[in-house]
Amino acid sequence: MAIRFDSKTNTFTIHTVKSTYQMKVDDQKVLLHTYFGSPADESDFSYLIVPDDHGFCAQPAGNAEDRNYSLDFYPQEYSVQGSGDFRIKALKAGFGGRVPALDLRYHSHQIREGKYSLPGLPHFFANDGDKVQTLEIVLKDLYEDVYVTLLYGVFEEKNIITRAAVIENAGDMPMEIKRAMSMCLDFMEGRKELICFCGKHAGERQYDRRTLQYGITEIGSNRGTSSHQHNPFAIVCDKNTTEDYGKCCAVSLLYSGSFQIQAEVDQFEGTRLVCGVNDDEFSWILKKGEQFVTPEAVISYTDNGLADLSGGLHRAIYDNLIRSAWKDRKRPILVNNWEATYFDFTGDKLMEIARQGAQIGLDMLVLDDGWFGKRNDDNSGLGDWYVNEEKLGCSLRELVDQINGLGLRFGIWIEPEMISEDSDLYREHPEWAMIIPGRDPVRGRNQLTLDLSRQEVIEYMKTSIDNLLDSANIEYIKWDMNRSVDNVFSAAAPELSQGAVRHKYILGLYEVMEHIHQKYPEILIEGCSGGGGRYDAGMLFYVPQIWCSDNTDAIERLRIHYGTSFGYPMSTVAAHVSVCPNHQNGRVTPFKTRGICAMQGSFGYELDLGKLTDEEKEEAKKQVAVYNEHYRLFQNGNYYRLTSPMDNHDFTAWSYVMPDGSKAVLSVVYTDLHANPKPLHIKWKGLIPNARYILEGREYTGAALMQGGIVLPKPECNYDSYMVVANLKDR
Ligand code: DGJ
Repeated sequence: MAIRFDSKTNTFTIHTVKSTYQMKVDDQKVLLHTYFGSPADESDFSYLIVPDDHGFCAQPAGNAEDRNYSLDFYPQEYSVQGSGDFRIKALKAGFGGRVPALDLRYHSHQIREGKYSLPGLPHFFANDGDKVQTLEIVLKDLYEDVYVTLLYGVFEEKNIITRAAVIENAGDMPMEIKRAMSMCLDFMEGRKELICFCGKHAGERQYDRRTLQYGITEIGSNRGTSSHQHNPFAIVCDKNTTEDYGKCCAVSLLYSGSFQIQAEVDQFEGTRLVCGVNDDEFSWILKKGEQFVTPEAVISYTDNGLADLSGGLHRAIYDNLIRSAWKDRKRPILVNNWEATYFDFTGDKLMEIARQGAQIGLDMLVLDDGWFGKRNDDNSGLGDWYVNEEKLGCSLRELVDQINGLGLRFGIWIEPEMISEDSDLYREHPEWAMIIPGRDPVRGRNQLTLDLSRQEVIEYMKTSIDNLLDSANIEYIKWDMNRSVDNVFSAAAPELSQGAVRHKYILGLYEVMEHIHQKYPEILIEGCSGGGGRYDAGMLFYVPQIWCSDNTDAIERLRIHYGTSFGYPMSTVAAHVSVCPNHQNGRVTPFKTRGICAMQGSFGYELDLGKLTDEEKEEAKKQVAVYNEHYRLFQNGNYYRLTSPMDNHDFTAWSYVMPDGSKAVLSVVYTDLHANPKPLHIKWKGLIPNARYILEGREYTGAALMQGGIVLPKPECNYDSYMVVANLKDR
């Protein structure tokens, strides 16, 4: 049993293969958090809490005499505003316009087989044969009929605990929620480090590690997307934790909108971690009988360092979060016309690119922005999801049929959440755009955001996407979203409910994505928000891959892929070979290197194939052959970071190993050149130590490759690269 309740000690103990997690209902019926860490037993860990009369630490209701007891320093499972806890709160809610105050005490609990579900929100699910249990702990306010149900999904063998909270108002008085986090986690001991993944457009998810200081450290987004700038994934670890050693705990929030992850080091050096929907511009009114359900958060802990932590998350996300029918299928090697033509294309030009693609052996052509409405630049047309036949010179069906005739599949770009003021849709429904009345709206890329908190807008989106998908043999969509959302206002919502619009937008988005997932299960959807502006675990419930960054430079992508790999499987990374000098930074890299780097994910091209030299075309054919031969490794192999591009300035190396250890590929990109260079070695990971592998005609044991490593060839030019495959002997 992964979850046990001990009625003598009133403790709930959760075991996964690599961790133990414990809570206790104390004498005051407060739910304390008593342990999370290396596998332990079911001892009552509340002995670790040291009661003391700390000055200025208040006593909760009903316990005024015991000055040694204060929720200001007791570790709690779900902290609330108004209970004498002055640290960051998980929940802040009040009634009738009064200051927020709640006092939650244990009410009941239930342990059951299987995983709870969160309708309308992304969530982990159990597959047949998975050992998964659910724990529900219900807390109730001391004064009002308010119930908070804490949900725990325990994937014992996957080393995953999921969490969410359901807040229900059963009383007559409307309740205003000002903040409702998905989880709260109190670490009693020691200073921790926080690893997070920060960045910018075209420079997402850069690894950033810091020691937590007194006070609150916050990462988050208030942009309406999970954002390029921060990511809803973080790791709390010890100072001495490395890739291969040490304690670490990952937190991933399954949410694609504005979020917050906060870590507070308190006065006694305990650390509290919370994450959930960003409370900036947030408020939610719960009338009698209504519920607010938080997004799901996922935690995972290991003693064995960051490689083990992300390896476990990769497997769990792949197996228990991604649902797409394309998850295990070979992803098409595609050519996308964006960097080849931008808005300047015709049907003939697309056919020319498709013909070149067919010669190289590609699987798909993706038609990017500019095919619909009157969109020849980024100032118009969003919302008018009907094809511009004048520009294509034919109908979409005719174009797609011709492309299919070349043996290529067809994919198309959409940005359904947006509206241009110069569009038929805006002329007909200006009230569907989010604009604060009487103010000139803040625009991003000269576009406005559709009000997805309105059901009629959601229905319009579903219908326009259905019509598009039914109009031709479309087998892939790239779902883009190209602005940070400000001036959030719904013309349909009463003044008092405007604080709910940001979150309702995301619920509306998920509703449309779920509709497509259900109605068109065979369509491969690639997520995108100006590249990786919405790269989060929530999205992966609906799409199996995401355009990782608008930055297609192979060298900058090394850092972006490195950071992304901590929280997300590499099969979710979409990466393309583009032209040089690179359009984003002007860098020139060898064609071969661009290929090796793009093969870190779902592979493709994004350039005018007709302009390739004969030599490059031959290289492209080789790349396609390599990807086709080893796609199982790239999509479903265990991914290992072998060096960090943040620390090693000479080269970056990574590897994929088949889960059964039968085959592995190692890739290296050199990032600096030296006269009279020192020999470069790299140690492989994840092989079977006592098995024999053949590598470039030579035989090695797995142990030799992992402990001794291999000698890398000398780079021959700037940004040279190297890829080598190791096959298990006699397989
Ligand atoms: C941003 C995307 O990330 C690009 O790949 C491209 O699709 C453009 N939008 C099109 O507007």
